[in-house]
Amino acid sequence: MSTVRFLTGITTSGTPHLGNYVGSIRPAVRASKTPGVESFYFLADYHALIKIDEPARIQRSTLEIAASWLAAGLDPAQVTFYRQSDIPEIPELCWFLTCVTGKGVLNRAHAYKASVDKNTAAGVDADADVTAGLFMYPVLMGADILMFNAHKVPVGRDQIQHIEMARDMAASFNHRYGEHFVPPEAEIEASVATLPGLDGRKMSKSYDNTIPLFSSREQLKKLIAGIKTDSRAPGEPKDTEGSALFQIYQAFASEEETATLRQAYADGIAWGDAKALLLDRIDQEIAPMRSAYEDYMAHPEKVEALLLAGAAKARAIATPFMSQLRAAVGLRPLSTTVQAGAAKADKVALASFKQYREKDGLFYFKLAAADGSLLLQSKALESGRAAGQAIALLQRDGAAALAALSDVLEPVDTGATQAAAAALTALAAAAAQAAQEKAARG
Ligand code: TRP
Repeated sequence: MSTVRFLTGITTSGTPHLGNYVGSIRPAVRASKTPGVESFYFLADYHALIKIDEPARIQRSTLEIAASWLAAGLDPAQVTFYRQSDIPEIPELCWFLTCVTGKGVLNRAHAYKASVDKNTAAGVDADADVTAGLFMYPVLMGADILMFNAHKVPVGRDQIQHIEMARDMAASFNHRYGEHFVPPEAEIEASVATLPGLDGRKMSKSYDNTIPLFSSREQLKKLIAGIKTDSRAPGEPKDTEGSALFQIYQAFASEEETATLRQAYADGIAWGDAKALLLDRIDQEIAPMRSAYEDYMAHPEKVEALLLAGAAKARAIATPFMSQLRAAVGLRPLSTTVQAGAAKADKVALASFKQYREKDGLFYFKLAAADGSLLLQSKALESGRAAGQAIALLQRDGAAALAALSDVLEPVDTGATQAAAAALTALAAAAAQAAQEKAARG
């Protein structure tokens, strides 16, 4: 179990620009191809609702961002690429986490505090124009991360506090209900400098100084012509320090190419010529992706299908995990009389595994409730050993093992999955209690 699980969300509130590409899309696509890494990327459209109330813009941005990531080489077969709003387990988990998060903790969240400070300075009510959505933003983000038990979350520095909050939520939940969540860690890409925009400030939608990632070559040329430079004439040496043009070039160029441009600056290259070099360098990297992008934009149904397939993959994990969590907090089918934590008194009520061989010569197992009703049924297996291993995994990991074993198990409906998850949680709790008692007896 040495794979590291990465997860990150992209809020669907704008059009991807070169800064997003250099700072997030390109490194993430590269990282997703690293062996031993499992990547989850999703379109955070529930988060977008906090900032944007223009439905058409949300939809457009969702398509543009998905098309950009796909065109930039994200392989949906290799990663899990989905849309947050296709996973109903996320808002459900958000509620569970809401109930273990201190309100005071959320009062201290940077984004909320900034609004409060601004209002206070303006002499208006501290919460003026602050929605409960903004206040709850960190909890929704915690649910995104904990739903898939991500180990590492690549984010910008401004998001570190949110990851720390997610760790706290994981710890409070685990403390109350047992070990269900892995504490996530923020992964800050130190090597990725933020890209300057047209005016030299950080490239950002809020400064209106961006270069859209998939501009046509003509648009790109026009925008690059608008990059702020100083007034030095051709032949005069130029400073690379503080030159937005130089920094953008560097983000796309090899070390050698960068050294060559540095020399050209010293030799007094004309700004027009430097801009032509930048245009060529960016276009060389983007042009091959442009046709794929345009194809996705012209065929949104292709993107839709990929996202739905991604959601199915994500829900193969989220659905059984949510069943486990529901059982853990006490949202259980009333027909299962087991109570985790009171395993001894309930011993009679525990479910049990049965392993058997059919006339077809193949091997099977099932999980039956104390009353004999069927909770899980395996498919035909080649060997008794395979059946034994699957049972061992279920005994060890409880409901968390259901996703990994989905190929081996016959599909059951949601209600049955919940009952099975509750039974597995109870079995695991009873086993833990038995081990503890044994240890106590010495
Ligand atoms: N808040 C993130 C941003 O603005 C987007 C986001 C939502 C996210 N959920 C997430 C990032 C979960 C990482 C993990 O950039």
